Amino acid sequence: MFESFNFFMPTEVFFGRGILKSKAKHMKKLGCRAFVVTGANSGRLSGALADCENALKELDIAYKVFEGIENNPSVEQCMELGKTAKAFSASFIIGIGGGSPLDAAKAIAVLAKNDISTDELFLGNYSNEVLPIVAIPTTSGTGSEVTPWSVLTLHDVQTKRGFGNKNTFPIISFVDPAYTDNLPKDVTINTALDAFTHCFESFISLKASTLTDALNIHALKLFGECKDALLNGDFDGIRDKLMLVSTMAGMGIAVTSTTIMHAMGYPLTYFYEIPHGAANALILPAYVNALEKHRPQRLLEALTALGMAKDELIEFATTLVPNNIKLSENEINIYSQQSATQGSCAKTGIPYEVSDISNMYRELFGG
Ligand SMILES: [Fe+2]
Repeated sequence: MFESFNFFMPTEVFFGRGILKSKAKHMKKLGCRAFVVTGANSGRLSGALADCENALKELDIAYKVFEGIENNPSVEQCMELGKTAKAFSASFIIGIGGGSPLDAAKAIAVLAKNDISTDELFLGNYSNEVLPIVAIPTTSGTGSEVTPWSVLTLHDVQTKRGFGNKNTFPIISFVDPAYTDNLPKDVTINTALDAFTHCFESFISLKASTLTDALNIHALKLFGECKDALLNGDFDGIRDKLMLVSTMAGMGIAVTSTTIMHAMGYPLTYFYEIPHGAANALILPAYVNALEKHRPQRLLEALTALGMAKDELIEFATTLVPNNIKLSENEINIYSQQSATQGSCAKTGIPYEVSDISNMYRELFGG
C-alpha cells in the first residue's frame, strides 16, 4: 500500500541549450501582446532577453519590456507593474531572470487582472483570471520556473512573504543552461545553494510523497556530483546539472513547499542583505542538527542521496558561506517571531515554537 498524495505540475517545460529559439512558437497560443519583465542586467547579460525579443518579433507578438525588477522585489513595485501590464493590454507576462523577475512576473500576472490589496494578493483573494506566465530562468536556483510561488518583500512588516496557487504556475518555461554560463562565482554559488536547499527541504517536508521523493532524490544525487566543482570554483562542467537540479527541486517544492530553513533565512536576507541561498546555507548547521534529533531516518536518506555525511555537508556549506554573523538577543527575538509566522515551519517535523526557533538562531549566531 502506498500513501495517498496529490501532485500537480501544469507547466510545460522545454529544457536544453538553444531551446527558446526552437520552441518559442509555443508562446503563440498565449496571445499577441507580451509584457516582458527582467532585472536591470540579467536579461541582457545572459542573452535571454535578446533571444526572447527575436522570437517575439518572428512570431509577430507585440511586446513591451521592463528592465528594472528589484532584487527581492517589493509588493509595491509589482502593484505598479500590474497597472503597466493592464495599460499595455498584455495578453501574457514573460519573466526573464533569477528568482526576483520570475516571482514578480507571477504577481504582475495576478495584479494586471485584479484590482486588489496586498492582503488580498497574499490570501489569494481575487476572482478574475490570471494572465498566462512564461518563465525564462537565467540562474540555477529558484526553481520559480516550475512553481506557483512568488516571494515578495513587504517593507511594512520588514520581511519576505510568499503566495501561490494553481493559477500562478508558469504555463511555459524555457530552461536553457546556456543563460547561466557567464554568471559570476558568487551568484553561481548562492543560487546553487538555493536549489540544493529546495530539494533537501522538499525531501524532508512532511508533505513529501513518493513522486516528490523521486524528483528530490535524483536532484540531491546530481547536486552531490557538483560538490567538488562548487568548492573549486570550476563551474563549466556543471552548469547543465545545476539547472536540472534547480528545475527538479522546483517541482518538488511546488508540491511540498519549503521548511523552516527557508523561514529562518528570510530575516537574514531582509536585515543583512545576505543573498537568499547563502542565508539558507547559514541556517543549515542548526537545521541538520535538529533533523538528526527529530527526523534521523529522513536525514540519513537525504544524506545518502547526496553522498555526504552530516559533518561533511556542514563543512561544505560553511566553506562556501562562512558565518561571520553575531545576532543580539533583540535581533534573535525579532527574527524568531517573524520566522514563526511562515507556514513552512510546520512542515519540517521538528519543534517550531518561537522559543525553539530562538534556540536555533542562538546556536548559529549567539554571542
Ligand atoms: Fe529558495
